[in-house]
Amino acid sequence: MNTGIERISFYTSRYALDLKTLAEARGVDWDKYRLGLGQEVMAVPPPDEDIVTMGASAAKPILDELGCEGIDLLLFATESSIDQSKSAGLFVHGLLGLPSRCRVVELKQACYSATLALRMACLSVAANPRSKALVIAADVARYELRGPAEPTQGCGAVAMLVTANPAILALDEACGLHAQDVMDFWRPNYRDEAVVDGKASTRIYLHSLQQAWQHYREQTGRHLLDFSRCCYHSPFTNMACKAHKTLLKEEGIEDKDEEHIECQVGESLRYNRIIGNTYSASLYICLASLLDHASDGLDNQAVSFFSYGSGCMGEFFSGRNIEGYRQALYTAQHRDIIAHRTLLTVQQYEDIYNLTIPRDGWDYTFSQYRTGPYRLSGISGHKRRYEAVS
Ligand code: HMG
Repeated sequence: MNTGIERISFYTSRYALDLKTLAEARGVDWDKYRLGLGQEVMAVPPPDEDIVTMGASAAKPILDELGCEGIDLLLFATESSIDQSKSAGLFVHGLLGLPSRCRVVELKQACYSATLALRMACLSVAANPRSKALVIAADVARYELRGPAEPTQGCGAVAMLVTANPAILALDEACGLHAQDVMDFWRPNYRDEAVVDGKASTRIYLHSLQQAWQHYREQTGRHLLDFSRCCYHSPFTNMACKAHKTLLKEEGIEDKDEEHIECQVGESLRYNRIIGNTYSASLYICLASLLDHASDGLDNQAVSFFSYGSGCMGEFFSGRNIEGYRQALYTAQHRDIIAHRTLLTVQQYEDIYNLTIPRDGWDYTFSQYRTGPYRLSGISGHKRRYEAVS
């Protein structure tokens, strides 16, 4: 049975910072961000947006089109959790009016957990083909101001409706796995910013990719050039290029590697370059980018995926685009969100970054910024209050 993605929709904040202005403010050569990292703009979340508002905003177009009948599983993947106990998925469940006969849970393993969510959603709909599952991944990538990781921040969410007999992409069963206990990137409970050993993290990412690819190859015998396109977890776009280069080398393809990278990976990175890292959502925003930008139709074409979450967990897997998939895309909505963002000055970005919200849990009202259809209006009695924006 085919199981996979029936719809995919993403959302990112209405505010962004042009990294050229950040480079000027930090006294860094703009080419380091633009060419060295491959990042040009980063999304900045206003104080009244969080993983719940972004996740619900990502899912809304899908539910507006198809309704919520049959959805009996909501998996929310994130590493920017807003509560130690209650799943962010339950806030979203309420905002979206999902059926009460539904399992809802939050999953965490750095940037990897959306992939497990997708796999579990496929198993769930395979067990009951009349059911549907909603997978949401949402994160805010936040590092220290003025540190080397600062230009790789970003925020966003992706929502995927998973069904048996999907309209966009059917997932293959084979997958290559690699798990290892390492400290390349982590965020202790008492910190708002991640701690990262940047250079080590890129090496470990590539090692994990090699191991997962080897495992996948043992099962399938497939080669890299068997895939029409390849999507990678993209903390910054050049990481995906390095990843593809590594696999091309493993396959003994060392000439024309730039051409292969442009051809197999380029279209998947367009959104990431102007949004930044979205942690658990990143790989699937790359998929949305590929689907929205692919110059030639990808009907029946094989696509590979590498999902990576620091700590670390890597998974290499694949899927096949369904014939006619273009009819099921939200390309215009995605482009509209990106095209109508408000660009911040560096001072405005730092003010938002430095805004401290009282941690006593009593009464706090958030100023209203530009948001999607939902916003965090306030906190009272230790409860986060969300509202629909008319
Ligand atoms: P850095 O030390 O500022 O950068 O940090 P660099 O000096 O290594 O320079 C970066 C690149 O720019 C280099 O290219 C330079 O040569 C080039 P490379 O050698 O890598 O090809 N460069 C220039 N190019 C053109 N013109 C110039 C110029 N100057 C330099 N003038 C680092 C970079 C990525 C380490 C930092 O941004 C960082 O710590 N980022 C966060 C960690 C990260 O993203 N790691 C990636 C793998 S781990 C992962 O993906 C998981 C994650 O998403 C979290 C999760 O799982 O939850 C992060």
